[in-house]
Amino acid sequence: MPAKRGGPTAPVVVSVGGSVLFRDEGDREYLAKLSELLRDLGRSSTLLVTTGGGRTARQYIRLGRELGLTEVELDEIGIEVTRLHARLLAARIGPPCPARPPTTLAEAVHEAHRASPVVLGGTEPGHTTDGVAAMLAVRLRARTLVNATDVDGVYDRDPHRFPDARRVERMAWPQFRGLVAAGTSTEAGQNFLFDRLGAELLARAGIPLAIVDGRDLPNLEKAVRGERFRGSRIDG
Ligand code: UTP
Repeated sequence: MPAKRGGPTAPVVVSVGGSVLFRDEGDREYLAKLSELLRDLGRSSTLLVTTGGGRTARQYIRLGRELGLTEVELDEIGIEVTRLHARLLAARIGPPCPARPPTTLAEAVHEAHRASPVVLGGTEPGHTTDGVAAMLAVRLRARTLVNATDVDGVYDRDPHRFPDARRVERMAWPQFRGLVAAGTSTEAGQNFLFDRLGAELLARAGIPLAIVDGRDLPNLEKAVRGERFRGSRIDG
């Protein structure tokens, strides 16, 4: 019989956006502290971390598109950048985190059976590192997936345009999937709140998604540990 999903010792997956890793402001200090936190969290439960490509990936993708590359080629370039970021973080975390980021889902699952944390970038064209994180969460029957991103949750309307926009603390999957589908296209370098395929996979498997500001490390820690956090929780 397959192991039950969601127990307190079940694995946790964290998707860290590229725009969180690199902001041109306090990056060195942030990356050092993030590495320490992930090393620490990886000791108490099996932890898998995906790293996004951020602005660097988008720059390459834009240039490649101007050069006439196909969407698949652009995705492949994006994947290389996410792997570069994974390598940087993995090297800073050090053993037992594998120094070479796994390149497939199967490899990541294999590594997670003997090491924690495991840090990786993308796998194949057609989705983002959020999608990879969601696939891993489903495959490993994770307790939760934490999306460490550049907003502190889902708002009822665009917080940049409406100062009175309110953060939604809890949202059901159908509503969230609608938001993501309306906000994304399938082009390389596109993402809004969360990967579309990833949202579908998590909803189907009943794995909760926490959306938190990835630069707020004490809060990220709470979300990973299953404590009360500031952000949005998508489930039900
Ligand atoms: P990201 O996961 O960083 O996408 O991958 P993103 O969400 O657009 O960017 P941030 O980091 O959250 O700001 C960058 C690009 O690499 C390709 C996609 O084109 C994606 O947009 N990619 C990534 C893949 O094709 N497959 C993968 O598994 C991962």
